[in-house]
Amino acid sequence: MKTQIIDARKQAEAGTTIGAGLIRNGELVAFPTETVYGLGANGLDGEAVNHIFEAKGRPNDNPLILHIAKKSDLKKLWAHIPDRAIPLMETFWPGPLTMIFHKADIVPYEVTAGLETVAVRMPSDKTARTLITKAEVPIAAPSANRSGRPSPTTAEHVLEDMDGRIPLILDGGACKYGVESTVLSLIGTPTILRPGAITKEMLEAVIGPVKLAPSILKPLADREVAASPGMKYKHYAPDAQVIVVEGTPEQTAKCIMTLYYDYLEQGKTVEILSTDQTHFRYRGASAVNIGDRNHPETLCANLFRALRDVGSVCEIILAEGIDTDDEGLAYMNRLLRAAGFERIDANSANMNRTQ
Ligand code: TXA
Ligand code: MG
Repeated sequence: MKTQIIDARKQAEAGTTIGAGLIRNGELVAFPTETVYGLGANGLDGEAVNHIFEAKGRPNDNPLILHIAKKSDLKKLWAHIPDRAIPLMETFWPGPLTMIFHKADIVPYEVTAGLETVAVRMPSDKTARTLITKAEVPIAAPSANRSGRPSPTTAEHVLEDMDGRIPLILDGGACKYGVESTVLSLIGTPTILRPGAITKEMLEAVIGPVKLAPSILKPLADREVAASPGMKYKHYAPDAQVIVVEGTPEQTAKCIMTLYYDYLEQGKTVEILSTDQTHFRYRGASAVNIGDRNHPETLCANLFRALRDVGSVCEIILAEGIDTDDEGLAYMNRLLRAAGFERIDANSANMNRTQ
């Protein structure tokens, strides 16, 4: 299959019309959102949704998010709308918040991977919304990467992973946030299953107490699998091995430099992901500055791109751990998963590795 790319910034009308036609025809279309690129199919057609799992190589017990273009579409997809969803929708939609609740009968089990709940979000990206509106169906879409790889934040990333597997990519340029939406379950006490740009504090300001799933910064325990199936799989892994070093910025940089030269001596190729605060400390080493530690949203915007670019030219990536306040939580959630939870405490003198 030949994969066509249409620049949706220049040919918005034609691109979304062709894309909507493909979706209605049961085919797959990759499209930009404000978080990452999605790989979309008709969310009410189980057979079309199965093609997503094939193209991604995604395990079929990992459920998908339905994307809608107007708030009123939510009532068709959920069994009913719980009270607390309303202020959340009013405050954060359109935008990077996904909410999970009991599904309506119309939602196929292919979307929910057999669960009785369904995840829904209303993206703010204009191309995404026009595509959904023209398709006249909710669009089921995971991130448009091959399963296990970093999520795509440009059309080029999608092409790397999906060339020859899908008929169309709509190119909307680089995604604004660069990490996927916050996933909030509204079953029982509201619980964040995956952190994102809409933070715990922002949600609590609207609906009161919100819990964090225990697996956000550590591997998923067996008993959590049912509530959060997506978190059990290997995620965001670039070609290179990622090691996270944690401590104060100064200690972290020192430890990273020691490791850097140790690995070079072993004959490995190594790259460092540095920050505005630490970049100068890596003079003489090969380092890519990915943003400001005090504004973790800047790190989020660049992480997946850096993992793809740097990961394809080296064997080891040394990355800095940061505080998990605000969007720092989303950043560390993705970074630790990319590293397979391989982390080093820069404070401990002997630099013992911890799991
Ligand atoms: O920003 C995003 O959310 C992007 C863009 C394309 O919208 N999409 C995305 O989809 O990240 P995906 O499939 O890569 O991640 C969806 C996450 C997975 O961790 C999945 O397990 C979880 O949401 N999820 C979906 N439905 C669920 C459900 N019913 N119960 C629990 N978790 C669910
Ligand atoms: Mg994904």
